[in-house]
Amino acid sequence: MIEIPELALVALVGVSGSGKSTFARRHFAPSQVLSSDAFRGMVADDENDQSASADAFDALHHVAGIRLRRGLLTVVDATNLQPHARAGLVRVAREHDVLPVAIVLDVPEAVAWERTQGRADRTHGRQVLTRMQRDLRQSYGRLAREGFRKVHVLRGVDEIDAAQIRYEK
Ligand code: GTP
Ligand code: MG
Repeated sequence: MIEIPELALVALVGVSGSGKSTFARRHFAPSQVLSSDAFRGMVADDENDQSASADAFDALHHVAGIRLRRGLLTVVDATNLQPHARAGLVRVAREHDVLPVAIVLDVPEAVAWERTQGRADRTHGRQVLTRMQRDLRQSYGRLAREGFRKVHVLRGVDEIDAAQIRYEK
């Protein structure tokens, strides 16, 4: 059982193919989920245009801040594997006195790679995935120190599948 405050900024953390967007769809309303893909699409007409990432995250942080000011739970569907990416989220949460929470989706690299190969919307190679896995390993020791008040780790496909979310009062 994953317990999160009714008002939180939830950062999903996981490599490409770990199932973040699937998890977000299953557990949250579409309007609660801000995805980096959707914001790249909004600012660049192309969800995969990595050159649009800075602008996309600017817009995402802005919308997240507005939602938190309005008292709305907000979920960020992005890999969130880099300290600087997470720092932006912790900053937005703090600016609005909202707790930043991380939910880590950790699947074996082979699983993520197999899924990636079946997707038309992803073209990255295996080395990119390996680098993301390395970034994930390094993230474990850092998340709490970076300011995430709760770090929930779901290890493996079964644990991700069985996860349920409960809201703290
Ligand atoms: P990026 O957006 O690239 O970072 O990936 P993601 O973490 O959002 O992964 P996504 O949820 O898009 O899942 C990737 C692929 O794996 C999709 O084709 C999903 O249908 C599939 N998938 C995700 N979760 C599960 C799962 O629990 N079981 C199975 N069998 N497939 C899954
Ligand atoms: Mg996704």
